[in-house]
Amino acid sequence: MAILPVSRPVLVCLLFFVSGSVFVAVSRAQDASQLTLDYYKPTCPTALGIIRSEMECAVRADPRNAAAMIRLHFHDCFVQGCDGSVLLDDTYTVKGEKTAKPNKHSLIGFELVDRIKNKLEAECPGAFSCADLLAVAARDATILVGGPYWDVPLGRKDSKTASPESAHTDIPMPDQGLLTLISKFIAKGLSATDMVALVGKSNINVRSRQDARMVVGSHTVGMARCVNFRKRIHGEYQYTAAANGPISEAHLEKLQADCPLVGSDNNVTAMDYVTPTLFDNSFFQLLVRGEGLLDSDQVMYSSMLAFETGDLVRTYARDAIAFFRQFSDSMVKMGNITNPKGGEVRKNCRYI
Ligand code: HEM
Repeated sequence: MAILPVSRPVLVCLLFFVSGSVFVAVSRAQDASQLTLDYYKPTCPTALGIIRSEMECAVRADPRNAAAMIRLHFHDCFVQGCDGSVLLDDTYTVKGEKTAKPNKHSLIGFELVDRIKNKLEAECPGAFSCADLLAVAARDATILVGGPYWDVPLGRKDSKTASPESAHTDIPMPDQGLLTLISKFIAKGLSATDMVALVGKSNINVRSRQDARMVVGSHTVGMARCVNFRKRIHGEYQYTAAANGPISEAHLEKLQADCPLVGSDNNVTAMDYVTPTLFDNSFFQLLVRGEGLLDSDQVMYSSMLAFETGDLVRTYARDAIAFFRQFSDSMVKMGNITNPKGGEVRKNCRYI
């Protein structure tokens, strides 16, 4: 957790500078005005029902399928906009994003996307885009694990390109500091409040401020690999667990057994060990106790720079309804990041 010797006024200027410059650079690339709620009414009126029933089967079989869809939508939207680019396989003409550092050995759920897409193609060939499929599946996933509902604006096109380079630079990483994380959200037209709500599991009560939208709500239901939390559980986390008592200590012992100092890089564990398959605000309560699994989650509360994000975490930890409300709003906002180049409707989400 980086502790920088930065005074509050200097920090405010820094944030203003980062947000101002990056936001201007990207905001022109965003035009969600063509998305509508009834976009597929004439061409595929049964599509939403198909996605919903496929997601129901998938999440019933394995709740992690919910986390997989939410994360795919996030990693899609942060690279070129929500355009299905994350789903493209490598070919002679296209280098996809699946092997970029934030995605490699980490993103899952591509077979589930294929299954849903095949059903949609059988019902209405060439109508429903892969980018929209991810947006709707992420919403359905959230509801199926106990989270909030929101209407999904539709009409995104699938890209004809991918950008492994942008996947590398634009997607936030667990070892990055709070300012870098916030600036990556701001660069996409999102705020610190959006970040906190989107990352956090819905265990928190948030009274949000318009300008601080970055809490991450989705880590309430997913898993992380040992390689992404090893340093933390063999470092600072040990002191917090000891102070928090026997349940925390027992959990730490299990974490360290699953993720030793050397090896077992791909062993996975739940980011919210209290309610791992439920979308609730316990994730935020864990952050308040200093038990966030990822450094990037814990800094939102514990960093010396976490003025706004810390308040948000505290609020969401108290008030699950506020968390749900903000999460829904932020998911719509994230889903509205469109690719200005437009595109096509792929028949197979893996290929242009
Ligand atoms: C500060 C920004 C974020 C960082 C640094 C971050 C980082 C991570 C990392 C390191 C993992 C574990 C991956 C692995 O170990 O293979 C993860 C998992 C996950 N993330 Fe994030 N994330 C962020 C924001 C988000 C957002 C905005 C969403 C969704 C809206 C999201 C949804 C998820 C989900 C659902 C999982 C679990 C996936 C699974 O179980 O397969 N994350 N994230």
